[in-house]
Amino acid sequence: MRKIIINGGKKLNGEITISGAKNSAVALIPAALLSDEEVVLNNVPNISDVDALEEILLYLDAKIERKDNNMVIINSKSITNKPIHEELAKKLRASYYFMGALLGKYKHVEMSFPGGCSIGARPIDLHLKGFKALGATVTGDDENIIIDADELNGADIYLDFASVGATINIMFAAVRARGTTIIKNAAKEPEIPNIADYLNAMGAKIKGAGTDIITIEGVDHLHSCTHSVLPDRIEAGTYIILGAACSEKLTIKNIVPKHIDSLLEKLKEMNVKMDIKKDSVTIKESKKIKATEIITLVYPGFPTDLQQVIASLMVKADGVSTIEETIWENRFLNLYELGKMGAKIEVNGSKAFIFGPSKLRGTEVNATDLRAGAGLIVAALEAEGKTVINNADYILRGYENIVEKLQNVNADIELV
Ligand code: EPZ
Repeated sequence: MRKIIINGGKKLNGEITISGAKNSAVALIPAALLSDEEVVLNNVPNISDVDALEEILLYLDAKIERKDNNMVIINSKSITNKPIHEELAKKLRASYYFMGALLGKYKHVEMSFPGGCSIGARPIDLHLKGFKALGATVTGDDENIIIDADELNGADIYLDFASVGATINIMFAAVRARGTTIIKNAAKEPEIPNIADYLNAMGAKIKGAGTDIITIEGVDHLHSCTHSVLPDRIEAGTYIILGAACSEKLTIKNIVPKHIDSLLEKLKEMNVKMDIKKDSVTIKESKKIKATEIITLVYPGFPTDLQQVIASLMVKADGVSTIEETIWENRFLNLYELGKMGAKIEVNGSKAFIFGPSKLRGTEVNATDLRAGAGLIVAALEAEGKTVINNADYILRGYENIVEKLQNVNADIELV
């Protein structure tokens, strides 16, 4: 794995433009298979998770073309529905979207599905509950999964937890089922309307995406369409937090402020000054940052994906900040790395206490997952001296051109 080396303590200045959302793109790409014709996707981020999905599509004999202007063209006319083996499936968790897409289109899917990763067990029981409700049978062991259906019939499906992945995966299977499906307690993250609009552009009939009740009327044919990936709210939040931590003046462009309202409100509570416009935020480092309390919740609550990043800002805050992580059972590994840099942190179960302000010193740290790595980049840019972040490839999974974007705003950062 590559490393990121940062010499911290410099003030960032300039503009950063946000790319397309990873957590939308990783669903939109497999969903292209549901169409019987060619689809065009714009604003697809150039990240390694997209590379992994491209590999799976090519393995399935689909045609995929990635232009250098973030446009991706996919044609699944020539697809072969063969088992997706572990080598491919384990590259990213979101490979599970091929389950809903292949089940929806071919009524059969076979794939290796490795479970957890460093942030938690990451079960798919709710995905499978939805597929079974539509009439599929699920066999196999906890490594390989086979899902079959003579036909798929619309059903009422209640999600015990408003799971993003289950909501999307069930939508994929339901768009080609016969009859009407209602998903109750559906996830409301902004990626979901972005995906529903794409399927509707292909001819699907989905209503209510973005609310907790989504109604899908099955159709037997989906045609070509052109669609765009929405701006990445987590990437935007990452750079806004970075601006609050160590910038003279940083403007983050191409964002949807409403999608990160919870973050913007918490930053205001922390006495961070921001100039929020229709599609950008300009932020200056604040002198007296105040401690705050955060609890991660489903959208529109504070996103779990940003708690590991804002932790690096809380280190500078005056007082005791707390983070309560309610979504994942093991998402504090980054705090131990911050401790190596001089942060004073205590973790008690699902709650972390960050005692600030403390000065961070550069040292060698390890990125344990994508967002942990992003948090360490913020900490390293704040810290005095040199930091080496190991396992940097985790970060490149979800942040397009992050090293170049930061070099352009005066950060002393390189990828080796
Ligand atoms: C999506 O993961 C995101 N990933 C995650 O972002 C994000 O943290 C998460 O949503 C929550 O917002 C993608 O979109 C690719 P969930 P997902 O299903 O869909 C439990 C990142 O950094 N659960 O909403 O896997 C699960 O254990 C990544 O970009 C079940 O119990 O999240 C967890 O506690 C990290 N059974 C909770 O729901 C299931 O069948 C949230 O899971 C599915 C989930």
